[in-house]
Amino acid sequence: MSRPVEIAPSVLPADYSKLGAECVALQDAGVDRIQWDVMDGVFVPNLTFGPDVIASIRPHVDVVFEAHLMVVEPDRLLHRYVEAGCGIVIVHAEACTHLHRTLAHIAELGATPGVALNPHTPANVISHVRDLLGMVLVMTVNPGFGGQAYIGTMEPKIAEVASLLEGFDCDIEVDGGIGPDTVAGAAAAGANVLVSGSALYRDPAGLEHAVTDLRQRAEAARA
Ligand code: DX5
Repeated sequence: MSRPVEIAPSVLPADYSKLGAECVALQDAGVDRIQWDVMDGVFVPNLTFGPDVIASIRPHVDVVFEAHLMVVEPDRLLHRYVEAGCGIVIVHAEACTHLHRTLAHIAELGATPGVALNPHTPANVISHVRDLLGMVLVMTVNPGFGGQAYIGTMEPKIAEVASLLEGFDCDIEVDGGIGPDTVAGAAAAGANVLVSGSALYRDPAGLEHAVTDLRQRAEAARA
């Protein structure tokens, strides 16, 4: 498994009264990218970050931003999140009538296309768009909220995605309930990009310890 392990914190649990400083703290803690959980209150029953929030923070940190668009009809918003400074844009397969066209649109805008699969969505949804993808996100919770329990039955699906992506230049990301007790299973199954929110913020030893520990556990599982 040659792809490098990357830690991508979700800022969902961050203190929004000082969101810029929270992103700087994540960067200082050694994360590889920052994931913005964008929710529209329709695709998922929660409402979060607009592009202007992300754009306001973009100049203050250097790490890559990825937009996880948990929205209906994402095509209408793609350019807004790319212009806000997101280098990776992830759409949900379940929200795209024409996924092939949407992924090509993200690439045309200059960002890396990603697709997210909800727990019920089969891995083979990606079969005919693999050449367009820079990342597949296997959801290990049902999207909408942080702090949920990891769905371990997604591990065979992660492995199936990894098998489908053999020969393709594409990361495999997992998101939901990723922490010290669950990261090894997801990484061993094939994930190399780990999204974590509550587990990072919950670590009593602080963010830097949490990030380093998660990375070490994932690397050990993929060795
Ligand atoms: C669900 C969100 C969460 C979040 C991470 O829609 O995508 O998975 O990023 O949440 P934790 O790490 O707290 O499960």
